[in-house]
Amino acid sequence: MERTAGTLCDEDITQLLAAVKPGHALPRGFYADPAVFERELDRIVLAHWFCAGHVSSVPEPGDFFLVEIAAESVIVVRDRDGNIRALLNVCRHRGSRVCTEAAGHLKGSVFVCPYHAWSYGLDGSLRGARHMSPGFDRAAHGLKSLNVRVIEGLIFLCFAENPPGLEDAQELLASTAGVYGWADAKVAHRETYSIKANWKLAVENYFECYHCQPSHEEYAKFHLYARPVELNRDADERMRARARDLEIELTNVDHWGVHALPGQEGADSYSSALAEGAVTGTEDGRPAAPLMGKFRDYIGGTTFFDVGPTSTFLAYPDYGVIYRFIPKTVDTSEMEIIWLVKGTARAGIDYDLERLTWLWKLTSIADKRIIEVNQQGVNSRYYEPGPYTPMEAPTQNFIAWYLRAIGPESPASMRGARVVSSG
Ligand code: FES
Ligand SMILES: [Fe+2]
Repeated sequence: MERTAGTLCDEDITQLLAAVKPGHALPRGFYADPAVFERELDRIVLAHWFCAGHVSSVPEPGDFFLVEIAAESVIVVRDRDGNIRALLNVCRHRGSRVCTEAAGHLKGSVFVCPYHAWSYGLDGSLRGARHMSPGFDRAAHGLKSLNVRVIEGLIFLCFAENPPGLEDAQELLASTAGVYGWADAKVAHRETYSIKANWKLAVENYFECYHCQPSHEEYAKFHLYARPVELNRDADERMRARARDLEIELTNVDHWGVHALPGQEGADSYSSALAEGAVTGTEDGRPAAPLMGKFRDYIGGTTFFDVGPTSTFLAYPDYGVIYRFIPKTVDTSEMEIIWLVKGTARAGIDYDLERLTWLWKLTSIADKRIIEVNQQGVNSRYYEPGPYTPMEAPTQNFIAWYLRAIGPESPASMRGARVVSSG
C-alpha cells in the first residue's frame, strides 16, 4: 500500500521506533508525521498533568480563561464556591465552542453557546436548552470536565480519566514553589511565542543548556548552569549554605522522565548558582522585585523545577517564571511564559516590568529562532540523527521516557486520554 507522510500505521511507528539509535537524536518521522503526533496527544500530552496558569488570573467567581492544546479547548473558571473548574469547551448539543473569548469575567452566571444558545453554569451543568422534546435529560448534557488540582497557586489540569498521581509532585512543589512563595504571587506578565516546530524540539531545547553559551549570551553571563555542572560544585555549595542561613534547604530531586516514581507524575528540581555578584535573572544581575516567600535575602542562585512533560518553572528569590510548552500541530507549537511577582508588589513602584521580563523575553526569542531552524534542518531528507553530549543528559532522559510512552510496551494508563467526566 502506498502511503504519504501523515498516514503512518502502528507498524510504521514500530519501525520508526526501531530506527532510533541509542544515545542519538530522534529521526525525522518523530517531528513530521501527524500519526505520531496523534499518538503523542493520546499517550503523553493529554494523559499527563500540565500547568494551565496561576490562580491569581481568576481571583473572583466568574473569572475565566481559555487553555488551548492541539484541537482541544478548555475553560478554566472560578465557580460560585471559589473552586477552580476546567470545562471542556465543546457544546453538548452539536459541538460548537461555547466560549470564544480568550479570558474575561462572566457577567451573567452562565456561558451561552453562540450557536443555539444552550447555556451552562460555572460548574458546567446545563441550565438552559431551548425547545427540546419532552424527556430530554438535561442532567446528562453538562459540559465535560477535566481533573483540576491547585498546588502552591499553580493550576494543574489533566484530560485523563485516571491521571498519574500527584503526591510526589506536591511534595516537590512544597519545597520549591512553596518556599519561593508562589501561592501568594500574582501574574505580572504573560507572553506567548508561536513556534514553527514540533513541540518536542521545544521541550528538548529547554532541557539542555549545551546551547546556552552560543545562543544565550545574556543568560550565560550570570547563570553558571550554562557550563558543565561539575564545574559549579563549589559555587552551588556556597549558594546552598546561604540558603541554609535563611533556614531554606535546597535539595535537588530527580523524579522526572524515566526516573518518575511508579504511578506518579514526573517531577524534579535543581538549584544552581549565579555568578559572583549576581542575585537574580536581570540584565545587571541586581534585584528586580520584592523578595518572595521565605527569602529574606538573596542567595546567589535560582531553582528550576518541572512537573510532567510540558510544564517547567524557574524561581528566583524575587520573581518566578512558568514555562508552558503547547503542542498545536505536528509542526507547530507555542511557548507561553508567565512572570510571577509577590502578590503585593506594585508595577512601576516595586518593580519595573521591562526590567523584570528582559532576560526571559530575550532568551525565549532566541529559543524560538533556534528551535525553528532545528525543525527546518530536521525536515531535510539528508538529516541524520547525531550523538548527544553529556550536557544534554536531561534531554536524553526526556527522549528515553517519550519512546517508552509511545512504544508498544507503554503502560495501559498511557493508552488513550479519556476526558474524566460529563455531567
Ligand atoms: S451547538 Fe451549542 S447550542 Fe447548538
Ligand atoms: Fe534556550
